[in-house]
Amino acid sequence: MHSFLDLADHSGEEIAALLALAKRLEQHPEPQALAGKILGLLFFNPSLRTMSSFQAGMARLGGSSFVISAGNGTWQLETRRGAIMDGVAAEHVREGVPVLSHYCDVLGIRAFAGGTNLNEDLAETSFREMTSLVAKPVINMESAVNHPCQALADWKTMDDLGLPQRAKFVLSWVNHPRALPLAVPSATVHMAAMRGMDVVVLRPEGFALPDAIMAKARAAADSAGGTLRETSNRAEALAGAQVVYAKEWGCTSHYGNADVDRELRSKLIDWCVRDSWFEHTLADCRLMHCLPVRRNVAVADEVLDSARSVVQREAYNRMTVQMAVLHSLLSGRQT
Ligand code: CP
Repeated sequence: MHSFLDLADHSGEEIAALLALAKRLEQHPEPQALAGKILGLLFFNPSLRTMSSFQAGMARLGGSSFVISAGNGTWQLETRRGAIMDGVAAEHVREGVPVLSHYCDVLGIRAFAGGTNLNEDLAETSFREMTSLVAKPVINMESAVNHPCQALADWKTMDDLGLPQRAKFVLSWVNHPRALPLAVPSATVHMAAMRGMDVVVLRPEGFALPDAIMAKARAAADSAGGTLRETSNRAEALAGAQVVYAKEWGCTSHYGNADVDRELRSKLIDWCVRDSWFEHTLADCRLMHCLPVRRNVAVADEVLDSARSVVQREAYNRMTVQMAVLHSLLSGRQT
């Protein structure tokens, strides 16, 4: 494995091997496996889990890490090609990213969607340009429409819980005060499809996932023997569900239009996961969410604080699977 940018770059066998390695490292720690190796972490957006789980995981493998939060104690970094840099940004990523890659053995980058041009975001234009500047292994720590580390952690969480491959997995849109990116819903629907699950995307009108995201997930479902469909009928979607994966995302029918988004979601305050959502699911149906979550807007206290909720297991598994990714990328590689 040279880089970890998208689950779709890897076969089912490669993902299974990563998950097995994560399990092995949990059971048989290797505190010197990455001694002398350095992980660089470049963030253009905030993080709690990604930043801390990568640092902790690298330390547990004997390596070290440094964190750059662009513009926060560092120069503001320009990402636009051809920009006339007479504003606040003092340095372009075309210089800054290769500089950082000199100092480390693997570089993680987090750069969220622009949120105004859907085609640009779907093409991951800015993120791809940055990764092309790095001659070392690169890890996607969340890009415009992908979050493979979260997806791998969620896959492991379902395996840890013993969930059957063909379980019904409902990715449900939930409310939030403002539009959020498509990275997690896109990565999640693809991951569940690749795991061979019966995947239902439940979302209100105006929030359908873009065709390109559904097509990618459908191809994964076809290949893994699972199914994929979408609906806005909550009762029908939730009937028989084994997992409800709650996630917030922005209006896609008027992508980037904050006024329309606000108007639409003002009528959707009942899209907050409550106990009543589980009346016709399987009795042991799980609630998943990548975190951070807005309590009593996206998911009610009564659900987050119940035994259904596996959000802490998901967060814990961010570290276990990222350790497997780091181990695969770096152990045995010459510095
Ligand atoms: N789930 C996740 O990526 O969390 P952070 O944004 O806190 O890193």
